[in-house]
Amino acid sequence: MSHPIVIAHRGASGFRPGNTLAAYDRAISYGTDFIELDLVLTKDNVFVARHENEVSQTTDVAQHPEFAVRKTTKIVDGESHTGWFTEDFTLAELKTLRVKERLPQLRPRNTRYDGQFDVPTLAEIIALVKQRSNELHRTIGIYAELKHSSYFASIGLPMEAKLAAEFKAAGWDKPHDPVFIQSFEVNNLKELHKLTGLRLIQLLEAKGGPADHAQPSYAAMTNAAGLREIATYAWGIAPNKALIQDGERMPTALVIDAHAAGLRVHPWTFRLENTFLPKSFRIGDDPAGRGHLDLEIRRFMDLGVDGFITDDPGVAVRERNQMMKR
Ligand code: G3P
Ligand code: CA
Repeated sequence: MSHPIVIAHRGASGFRPGNTLAAYDRAISYGTDFIELDLVLTKDNVFVARHENEVSQTTDVAQHPEFAVRKTTKIVDGESHTGWFTEDFTLAELKTLRVKERLPQLRPRNTRYDGQFDVPTLAEIIALVKQRSNELHRTIGIYAELKHSSYFASIGLPMEAKLAAEFKAAGWDKPHDPVFIQSFEVNNLKELHKLTGLRLIQLLEAKGGPADHAQPSYAAMTNAAGLREIATYAWGIAPNKALIQDGERMPTALVIDAHAAGLRVHPWTFRLENTFLPKSFRIGDDPAGRGHLDLEIRRFMDLGVDGFITDDPGVAVRERNQMMKR
C-alpha cells in the first residue's frame, strides 16, 4: 500500500471559512501534509486565495457602499456571473473586505467566524507554511490551484509564469519540493511543465470538459490514451471522487488505469457532512449532520488512491495513519 497524502481542501474548511490563514493553520494543527488553495489575481497582479474571482459569496463586499458601483456582470469560462471581481480591486482594497462562510446552511457553526478574517495573499500563505514547518519540524506542503487561467490571460493577467516565479523565489522549483500546482484547464499545465520542475496535477470533473477546450471532454481524458497524454506533462490526476466510485455503485478502473499510465491519484472532495457521503455512510437524515467520513476514507484507501483532498483533514490523517499500521 502506498502512503497516501492528506491535502486540506481550502484548509480545514469544515471548521473555518475556507481559503483563510485560519483555515490553513487549523489544517496544519490537524496534521495535514498539504494545504490546498485556489488562486486568482487582483487588479495590481497579486495572487490571492479565493475559490472564485467573483467574491460576493465568500466576503462582505456587498456591505461596502464604497464598492457598490463595481458590481457588474461578466462571462467567465462561458458562464455569466454578477457581482464583484478580484481583478477590479487592488490588493489594498481587497484587504478591506472580510471573509464569510461559503456553506452557511451546512456549516452554521462556521458563521461565528464571519467578519474575522481577510483574504490572504499567496505570499502570506507561503510564509505561514514555512513558519509552521519550522515550528513543527515537519514539512507542510502547498497544493495550489490556478483558477480561470484562460480568462485571466484574456484580461491581460496571465498566471503561469508569475506563479512559477513566485514559487521559485520561495525556493521551490524541483519535483521533490513540497508544492503541487493543479488546474482543471490543460494548456496552462502544459505551459507550466516548461516553466517549472514542480509536480503538476490535472484536475478532472465528472462531467463537461476543460474551459480552455484543449480536450473535448474530461471523459476523453480518463480513458487509457487520455491518461497517457496527461502523463506527458503532469505527475498525477485529481479526479472528482465519483469518477472512482460514485456512491454505492461499483468502483471504476480509473485508479488502476492512471497508475498504469504512471500517474498518481488524489480524488476530491472528502467531507464529513451527510450530503456529501454515500448513503450507507450517513448518520441520520440531516444533510448537515456528520456521517462516517472515516469509512469513506478507508474505502478509497482500499481502492489504492495516493492522496485525499478533504475539508476535514483531522479525520483523514487519523484514518490514514490507522490503515498504514495494519
Ligand atoms: O482542487 C481540488 C478541488 O478543490 C477541485 O475543486 O472546485 O473545490 O476547487 P474545487
Ligand atoms: Ca481547488
